[in-house]
Amino acid sequence: MKINPYFVIFSLFTILQSCEYASENDLTEQIDPADDITYAIHVAPIINANCVSCHSNPAVAGASIPMTNYSEVKSAFENTNALNRMNRQPGEGGFMPKYGTRLPQTSIDLVEEWINEGFLE
Ligand code: HEC
Repeated sequence: MKINPYFVIFSLFTILQSCEYASENDLTEQIDPADDITYAIHVAPIINANCVSCHSNPAVAGASIPMTNYSEVKSAFENTNALNRMNRQPGEGGFMPKYGTRLPQTSIDLVEEWINEGFLE
């Protein structure tokens, strides 16, 4: 049987396209606001990358509270207005991360969603 080279190329192209489509799908799934937002999957990476350099345990650089695990981070958002701090503009008093750049709105929204869903661990 003779294989049509155009058919081979077409097939390869279709397979490649389906791969790309699948990975894009995965990505949107990760940040779908309908998903359960948990500390472990969504919030910890944001806090670890942007806050723990000062809010370690013990906290350094004048930071008052640690934010290194679920209960510490939950407490920060429950009791010390941490979301409000992230929502401020750089240069504004109390802005967090101090001396840093404002987090992408998608990250701030994700944390807000986590709070609204009741601090899932
Ligand atoms: C460069 C160091 C640094 C980084 C990074 C940083 N902070 Fe802070 N943070 C401080 C300092 C210093 C204070 C104490 C002064 C103040 O309250 O503004 C503080 C205070 C706070 C407070 C008030 C705590 C209280 O006792 O009332 C909150 C809430 C807070 N930070 C949240 C965050 C969050 C959330 C992030 C990450 C998005 C972050 N911080 C990143 C240095 C930092």
